[in-house]
Amino acid sequence: MTPRLPTPHGRRVAAAFAALLAAAAAQADGGRRMPANVPMAYSQECGACHVVYPPALLPAASWRRQMAGLDKHYGSDASIDTASAQQIGAWLQAHAGTYKRVREEPPQDRITRAAWFARKHDGIDSASWRLPAVKSAANCNACHPGAERGDYEDDAVRMPAGATTNRWRFWRHD
Ligand code: HEC
Ligand code: HEC
Repeated sequence: MTPRLPTPHGRRVAAAFAALLAAAAAQADGGRRMPANVPMAYSQECGACHVVYPPALLPAASWRRQMAGLDKHYGSDASIDTASAQQIGAWLQAHAGTYKRVREEPPQDRITRAAWFARKHDGIDSASWRLPAVKSAANCNACHPGAERGDYEDDAVRMPAGATTNRWRFWRHD
């Protein structure tokens, strides 16, 4: 991808070009990585039943509704003590998504129902989503091994055996 240029000057140009690409990628990323200051309560409480989701993947209003309705959380009772709920809630608000494609509140406040999510995953067929190794689109870590860190780079995608996408680049499996 980086142009191969033999001279020292060429290498400097190549390095500058690579830095530019990285900056552009970070921009497009919209900050979906996990912030550095993840509260222990978030990892422990919100990571008990599924992978922890980066706050930047939902707008503030969606997180507010989720935190207000933990007793009826997608068919589960995910209630936690008030102090933890307050800490997690404030942190989610501070780091909620503001990037333009995330600003819209998705149906059921689900990341997996957002328009950008459908666009990014439109190559995956419905049978792949239902594989036992996947079970639900909400199990991001089934295909994104770095999900815990908020690493959703498409270069890091590893589809479980049997899962297919029409994007040729992702035909590789573990
Ligand atoms: C008792 C288990 C449990 C706990 C604890 C829990 N969740 Fe969930 N959560 C679920 C289930 C079940 C779903 C639905 C998963 C599915 O559709 O496959 C879900 C879904 C979600 C989704 C939507 C995923 C999607 O489809 O885009 C978000 C966001 C979420 N949880 C956030 C949280 C947060 C924040 C906490 C901590 C305050 C939390 N969860 C704690 C069980 C739990
Ligand atoms: C069945 C496997 C699978 C699951 C489960 C899955 N993804 Fe993906 N995801 C992919 C594949 C494959 C791509 C690459 C699509 C492409 O670029 O063609 C992708 C791409 C993405 C991208 C765009 C990456 C980029 O660099 O543009 C994001 C963001 C993303 N997924 C987030 C998520 C989140 C968040 C979850 C869970 C709520 C999730 N994914 C669940 C397979 C999956």
